[in-house]
Amino acid sequence: MTSAVPVLRTERLGKRFGALQAVSDVSLALPQGARHALIGPNGAGKTTFINLLTGVLAPSTGDVYLGEERITALRQHPRVKRGLTRTFQINTLFPGLTVLESVVLAILQREGLAAQWWRPVAEYREQVDEAMTLLATPRARARRSCPTAASAWSRSRWLSPRGRASSCSTSPPRASRPPRARRCSASSPRSPPR
Ligand SMILES: Nc1ncnc2c1ncn2[C@@H]1O[C@H](COP(=O)(O)OP(=O)(O)OP(=O)(O)O)[C@@H](O)[C@H]1O
Ligand SMILES: [Mg+2]
Repeated sequence: MTSAVPVLRTERLGKRFGALQAVSDVSLALPQGARHALIGPNGAGKTTFINLLTGVLAPSTGDVYLGEERITALRQHPRVKRGLTRTFQINTLFPGLTVLESVVLAILQREGLAAQWWRPVAEYREQVDEAMTLLATPRARARRSCPTAASAWSRSRWLSPRGRASSCSTSPPRASRPPRARRCSASSPRSPPR
């Protein structure tokens, strides 16, 4: 059943860069489960509009609502914590982490625990279990222990919103490692963190 309140809504949203009105009076309401494409010519204001939705830019006029909450003044990371996230054309996963570790990291970040880098991941049983549940389909299970660097682009695309730690304020573990071009199959997994 779809909820009566749109999950995401804008009211007369606008952005001006000096004399240039990049986005003008945009009011839209997206119901739960809806998929929309935003199309338009170069310079039409698509990226600016997405930046207004996600909190990268502050609007000059209008408001953004997530459910019933007005989030116009919220910065990016509290929006992410409320479930409003964004993926980019280029995936920005940590190549040295496994698929499972990436999802655990995102869960820890959501719960404000990601900065406790001195605790082994295996101690976060609840979060590891949640990640296991998210990766419960047969195909996902087979790749839990594979490094994200070994994932095909389409798989990384799927993982990106789940494993992204864009609001992470501290350096992630092993983030500076160069990507490893290695293959991973279901028959040669790395040990999961549990
Ligand atoms: N930070 C900024 N400062 C000044 N002008 C900007 C800024 N960001 C975007 N613009 C201008 O706002 C207008 C809309 O740009 P925007 O990038 O949102 O368009 P777009 O629809 O995403 O275009 P494209 O299809 O090329 O990605 C353009 O004229 C652009 O030059
Ligand atoms: Mg753009």
